[in-house]
Amino acid sequence: MDMRAAVAALVEKGIRAAFPDAEVPADIGGMLEVPPERTMGDFAFPCFRLSRALRMAPPMIASRLCQNINDPDTARVECVGGYLNFFFNRGNFARGTLEAILASPGKWGSSSEGAGKTVCMDYSSINIAKRFHIGHLSTTVIGNSLMRIYKFLGWNTVGINHLGDWGTQFGKMIAAYKRWGDKKTVEEGGVDEMTRLYQRFSAEAKENPALEDEGRAWFKKIEDGDSEALEIFRWFKDVTLKDAMRVYDILGVRFDSYAGESFYADKTGAVVKELEDKGLLKDSDGAKVVDLEEFGMPPCIILKSDGATLYHTRDLAAALYRKKTYDFSKCLYIVAYQQDLHFRQLFKVLELMGYPWAVDQMKHVAFGMVSYEGQALSTRDGVMIYLDDLLTRAQEKALAIINEKSPNLENKQEVARQVGVGAVVYSTLQNNRIKDIDFRWDRALNFDGETGPYVQYTYARCSSVLRKAPASLGDPDWNALTDDDSQYLLRLMSRFPEAVADACDKDEPSIVTRAVTEIAKAYNKFYYENRVLDDDPGVAAARVALTRACADVVRTGLYLIGLEAPERM
Ligand code: ARG
Repeated sequence: MDMRAAVAALVEKGIRAAFPDAEVPADIGGMLEVPPERTMGDFAFPCFRLSRALRMAPPMIASRLCQNINDPDTARVECVGGYLNFFFNRGNFARGTLEAILASPGKWGSSSEGAGKTVCMDYSSINIAKRFHIGHLSTTVIGNSLMRIYKFLGWNTVGINHLGDWGTQFGKMIAAYKRWGDKKTVEEGGVDEMTRLYQRFSAEAKENPALEDEGRAWFKKIEDGDSEALEIFRWFKDVTLKDAMRVYDILGVRFDSYAGESFYADKTGAVVKELEDKGLLKDSDGAKVVDLEEFGMPPCIILKSDGATLYHTRDLAAALYRKKTYDFSKCLYIVAYQQDLHFRQLFKVLELMGYPWAVDQMKHVAFGMVSYEGQALSTRDGVMIYLDDLLTRAQEKALAIINEKSPNLENKQEVARQVGVGAVVYSTLQNNRIKDIDFRWDRALNFDGETGPYVQYTYARCSSVLRKAPASLGDPDWNALTDDDSQYLLRLMSRFPEAVADACDKDEPSIVTRAVTEIAKAYNKFYYENRVLDDDPGVAAARVALTRACADVVRTGLYLIGLEAPERM
């Protein structure tokens, strides 16, 4: 039940009755405030903005409106100073809210506001021949959550893993493999073995510069489509993706496309030509650049002096390709804020090319930097956490706790996975995305306080209550839910749809994380204060309905941030 709309309707009726000639403000719903103290009501309507048009002091307006609003079934109204304070009819609010949530399970907060629109989500976007580390955790889980949120709001979503799979380093890797590698070792050692080969190449190239030429020659072969070079290169990709898929499977992450940088290699020629035709390219020491000085940015390099394309060139091709292929209304890049300049340059060049959508449809959804115990991540210095290690440890810890607390649980391994992953994902989506994260094992593996496992536990608690509830309890006595704890929970649940919409507007999953956590906390408070399966069947029926609705909303909230909801734990 949309109480904001219901109260707005009361205010509107009041204005029409008290001031028949006055113009009714268009956005009364938006003018309603949520008072800081619960004792001051559920909504407050400030009369100050009406004062000018009505030529009347706000307290006068408030008192006149008060006399003209009389709908105790919806809310009682009091006037205090220039405010109207509305107090919901608690029983009816409970009924309205719970009936609305329970009418379509799994749908509370969903909408069709995105119908007919497509969003492209560039996320995770890992680099080939590199192990999946926590530097790519945020983009992966933020992107996954946003995919789910947009879909929930009716958008058509295209999840793109823009693989980092182009560059001279792949030529060097092939050269190293041809010299020192063999198929079996790479198959078995995976990305680690490729890294070792690459490191050996870098070390030996210092002594023997001819190796660099060999690397360049192999990259040239990739570019020219030489079959041996392509075969090895594709196989490197498969090996990397096989490793990454394990992580994606554990996290429940899926992509619609893996078109990465190499996919655009043969589409950059057209971009260069278009830039040239539009008179945007300038020579700069042999390189071709788009000058961005007047916009306060360094030039965007399109071609190096040897004619090679760059990250930017391929991103330009990718943006044009996505617009043409998917006709998106939004194209989001979930990438660390270190690449802020890269994206500002990219969007500006597209704008200069005459594509206005680059201004209002493309967005860099930036997130903070990840460090590890205060140090910047670096494979070389050993300051690194690999995602498979992290997820394994989280699952082991969850399993140990389950073995201790619920030794008889049936599917322990499965629940340990859900809970372990839940802890890691939740801790990544807990704070505003722009905040830097200093990774700490104890925090990522924390199961107490405000954590993923705490919210999951609340869901399991609701499920347990529902399993014990008799099949038919008769009609709920809604007045059993008029106490402060029940009302607070109802209020949070009734506002959950606003949280989802806001999260989508701001591309900020943490808004959903916070909303679902507050709901879980409120349920636990309610549960502590009340006996759900009361002897009075009407009271029990009302509290069971509240529990069922809460389970439903918590499950949805968890899903939207990428967590599973175990029935028992
Ligand atoms: N692979 C890049 C990295 O790891 C991220 C790519 C982001 N997407 C893009 N279209 N530039 O830094």
